[in-house]
Amino acid sequence: MTQISMTVNGKAASADVPDNTLLSDFLREGLRLTGTHVGCDTSQCGACVVHVDGRAVKSCTVLAVSLAGAEVTTIEGVAHGKDLHPMQAAFKEHHGLQCGFCTPGMIMSGIDMVNRYGAEGKTLDAAAIRHELEGNICRCTGYHNIVKAIEDAAGKMSGMAQAAE
Ligand code: FES
Ligand code: FES
Repeated sequence: MTQISMTVNGKAASADVPDNTLLSDFLREGLRLTGTHVGCDTSQCGACVVHVDGRAVKSCTVLAVSLAGAEVTTIEGVAHGKDLHPMQAAFKEHHGLQCGFCTPGMIMSGIDMVNRYGAEGKTLDAAAIRHELEGNICRCTGYHNIVKAIEDAAGKMSGMAQAAE
């Protein structure tokens, strides 16, 4: 067992966990943050994507003990109170989900790609979104509305960033 201590959705989280505990299991079973889904446990589906220190990672590929002091954000932490994150709102508006199983990972990956492209001054168009989504599998939607949602959210998020400057 190892004692771990990190920040999850802005709150301190510590626990004694077996050394082989995956971040996905710590979040879901240790903290009851079940919005992070586990579809494959083998780094293929992307349902488990969260942010660690601001970057998207597949939480089934990371050991919790390796994240001492890290800032972790899950799907439960992206809204501001009752206001959905623009990426969540865009998925709702563009019907970017059906069963919803892949959706937390899609949204966390979408936010990450918008932030990365924005920081690098690159255009996140539909082709780039499709390329970026290669690590996220959806069995229901055919991806079309997911791409539309991320494209729409990208515009809204960059507008918010400019307004904050
Ligand atoms: Fe992590 Fe599928 S559960 S990639
Ligand atoms: Fe069902 Fe994507 S909405 S897997």
